[in-house]
Amino acid sequence: MKYRRCGNSGLKLPEISLGLWHNFGHVDQLENSAKILQLAFDNGITHFDLANNYGPPPGSAEENFGKILARDFNGYRDEMIISSKAGYTMWDGPYGDWGSKKYLVSSLDQSLKRMNLDYVDIFYHHRPDPDTPLEETMAALDLIVRQGKALYVGLSNYRVEEATKAISILNDLGTPCLIHQPKYSMYERWVEGGLLDLLGNEGIGCIPFSPLAQGLLTDKYLKGIPADSRAAKAHGALQENQITAEKVSQLNKLNDLAKSRGQKLAQMALSWLLRDNRITSVLVGASRPEQLADSLACLTNTTFSPDELTQIDVILANAENN
Ligand SMILES: NC(=O)c1ccc[n+]([C@@H]2O[C@H](COP(=O)([O-])OP(=O)(O)OC[C@H]3O[C@@H](n4cnc5c(N)ncnc54)[C@H](OP(=O)(O)O)[C@@H]3O)[C@@H](O)[C@H]2O)c1
Repeated sequence: MKYRRCGNSGLKLPEISLGLWHNFGHVDQLENSAKILQLAFDNGITHFDLANNYGPPPGSAEENFGKILARDFNGYRDEMIISSKAGYTMWDGPYGDWGSKKYLVSSLDQSLKRMNLDYVDIFYHHRPDPDTPLEETMAALDLIVRQGKALYVGLSNYRVEEATKAISILNDLGTPCLIHQPKYSMYERWVEGGLLDLLGNEGIGCIPFSPLAQGLLTDKYLKGIPADSRAAKAHGALQENQITAEKVSQLNKLNDLAKSRGQKLAQMALSWLLRDNRITSVLVGASRPEQLADSLACLTNTTFSPDELTQIDVILANAENN
């Protein structure tokens, strides 16, 4: 594993990080989740990304992660970077959603209890809140750091204009933004329209989520929808109707290009993100340990010829976001 510095900070993150959005909830097999985490850590993945609402049910990924940490990772806390977030619906009433100080502080307290941790390394605001003053949300992040409940703070799903304001407020408060977590893959390239430049100029890290477009950018959907895939699961966030004939045709062409590079499609999709040194780490998911091992092999080839980059652009010209 190689580690990249997160913006201008002192923190280094592994080029591949593991996210626990799917496959770690109460609906999943705990032993399978444990094996994925063990394989990750044994291969130098030191960063594990959670959120209050990951499961299903919401909260259960943090609970399971806490159980596995206590059982299998005893003594390794200082070798790990653990993140959590709040910003989406978590509990009933006006204080369990969005971006008030009340929600963020209470939610992190709950997350720490579920994971049985004293602090998280990174705490994110999960999405911008159009109604709460940005000053209040950023003051909540600053407070949480001063209380010792998080070491660093981050933003997720903030567009350029909102991110610019939030970064400035955090700088004024003395708790600089460490990292931004946007959706970014070959199928979702909005960050190239200014966000990456902003983060690069401000010395802030970037950790793209859903880099495989939830599994689309792998070889699994080339010939239909496998029964054990995210698209086939009732609680999966990828819908069958997102796998259109046009996408399958694009994926087959990308798969051929990956083969010509000596890679699998999943590996090429991850390498493609890591080719830009403003990307600190790529945040993958996995439903089985073998998938993660497969994805990790992307690290042996993260350079692209100009011709390969053009071919990818041509194949995906006019592609719908995913
Ligand atoms: N900040 C946010 O708003 C936000 C939103 C979403 C996600 N995230 C973060 O990003 C993380 C990753 O998101 P994601 O799970 O959507 O990422 P992803 O890496 O795009 O998709 C992961 C899925 O792809 C399939 N897969 C992975 N590796 C494979 C391989 N080598 N070969 C074949 N299939 C493979 C598996 O699906 P199957 O089940 O089909 O096997 C796996 O669950 C999340 O866990 C979370 O931490 C953040």
